[in-house]
Amino acid sequence: MGKNWWKESVVYQIYPRSFQDSNHDGIGDLAGILTRLDYLKKLGIDVVWLCPVYDSPNVDNGYDIRDYKEILDTFGTMEDFDRLLEGLHSRGMKLLMDLVVNHTSDQHEWFQQALQSRDNPYHDYYIWQDGTTDKLPNNWESHFSGSAWEYVPHLGQYYLHIFAKQQPDLNWKNPKVREAVKDICRFWLGKGVDGFRMDTMNFYSKVDGFPSVEGVEGLVRAHRFYQNGPHIHEYLKELHRDVLSLYNGMTVGETPNVTPEIAKLYTGDGRDEVNMLFQFEHMSVDSGPKDKWDLIPWDFVKFKKIMSKWQTSLHGCGWNSLYLSNHDQPRPLGRFADDSVYRVESAKLLGTMTHTMEGTPYIYQGEELGMVNVRFSDISNYRDVQTLNLYADLSAKGVSHREIMRKVYTKGRDNARTPMQWSGERYGGFSDTEPWIELNPSYLEINAAQQEEDPNSVLHYYRKLIRLRRQYPVMVYGDFVDCLPEDPARYAYRRTLEGEKLFVLLNFKDRPADFYQPEDMDPSRWQLLLSNYPADSDPCGPLRPCEARVFYQKEASL
Ligand code: GLC
Ligand code: CA
Repeated sequence: MGKNWWKESVVYQIYPRSFQDSNHDGIGDLAGILTRLDYLKKLGIDVVWLCPVYDSPNVDNGYDIRDYKEILDTFGTMEDFDRLLEGLHSRGMKLLMDLVVNHTSDQHEWFQQALQSRDNPYHDYYIWQDGTTDKLPNNWESHFSGSAWEYVPHLGQYYLHIFAKQQPDLNWKNPKVREAVKDICRFWLGKGVDGFRMDTMNFYSKVDGFPSVEGVEGLVRAHRFYQNGPHIHEYLKELHRDVLSLYNGMTVGETPNVTPEIAKLYTGDGRDEVNMLFQFEHMSVDSGPKDKWDLIPWDFVKFKKIMSKWQTSLHGCGWNSLYLSNHDQPRPLGRFADDSVYRVESAKLLGTMTHTMEGTPYIYQGEELGMVNVRFSDISNYRDVQTLNLYADLSAKGVSHREIMRKVYTKGRDNARTPMQWSGERYGGFSDTEPWIELNPSYLEINAAQQEEDPNSVLHYYRKLIRLRRQYPVMVYGDFVDCLPEDPARYAYRRTLEGEKLFVLLNFKDRPADFYQPEDMDPSRWQLLLSNYPADSDPCGPLRPCEARVFYQKEASL
């Protein structure tokens, strides 16, 4: 497999609503992002992935698009967008747009037309089933609670919505839908954007006949009937052939429920589909079979096995995305390490892992500061449609406030959506007025201004990580060996590329652990590249709580 710019890049994800407000309305906007480009440049990232900024009624914060070729007025204008793109390009950074084409908003012109009558030319842009109010087409549950079908009385039909009822699924079987998607892609690529993050990409093709899941009571997530469906590869190849292949862009598909075998079908060399996926196996270690709210303790050894399996399975035949957080996930520190006593060490530990594996690392805004989850006591402080629907659904079923909030505190999406913590000033430097969602009170202690001053901060450490990736090709392209797969506390792995060796030793526990030395490496010849503790002790001494060390060794040239 060849070298590519997108393999060597580090991506930074921006959730525009919460990044930087510039016009005093408490909502982040494009002009606000523009004022922070130097911050991003200094961080060292190569690519920005911008969550949706298109015109939208914002039932799902922009993932419900009303017009794919307009900018949401709250975020600014197309001129602001052009300035942002130019600002990124002139600083040597690229821009990925979020392509949300599994569904549109119910306010999109196509859906409004589709609602008019069964023979409207746009009716077939969506997915319909005949029926009556008293009988749902099947037992599929929406990801945002309740049935995945909504009845339209004057048509005598249900439409499918895997997400909110204001997000009707598009009918990809209709060639006109596929042409419309290509047209959207051409529009943005024509403007000079550098690629797409493809929202719920493996949902485009649904199984024929919309069968119910057998043997269950009530509604269930019917993943196998609409993820990795029968025509998905055809559709992606067509999009690649007709549009994506004509640009040197980058594509990353969001794909829950994929194995490495399935991932190779999407990303393999010569498959001509997309460059890489966001797989979710490691994000599922702390949930039971029902859904993400089904909380279970996670198992560190299992987690490592998943990470390592993806490393070795795709080496030489696919490409990984490396991430632990995004706008849909809780903050990772409390989840995978420690967000209290060892918060700083944990943030550096997890960052070390995502930047020293094979794949493209993704940093979600605030991760580079070690931001943590939020706990609002009242549900009225929450904004996320998924969280609010869950609360209504479970309350109606008699589940206690306390029990629901435990789920929300652990997995709710607003954990990641509180405003960016730029400084300790009022409203955290995000805005000068009350923001659309409250700040996490931790901004007084955790913020970019304070970390800029502190050379031992998470922010400075992330800059170092990104710099090292650029300097050492073994960090990008080296192969991967898990040295201690069964170890209950340490993750130890080795990477090799043409005589260069990297050894990464991570103590995931909040207590000391023994050092470990791989047999084929020589402490007298290796160099400690990086550690998340001050370098005042023996590099081969015992590991301190949540300690990370990265060693590098180059074979003498023959
Ligand atoms: C993806 C997005 C999420 C959104 C959903 C529906 O999972 O990341 O934020 O709610 O798709 O578009
Ligand atoms: Ca604003």
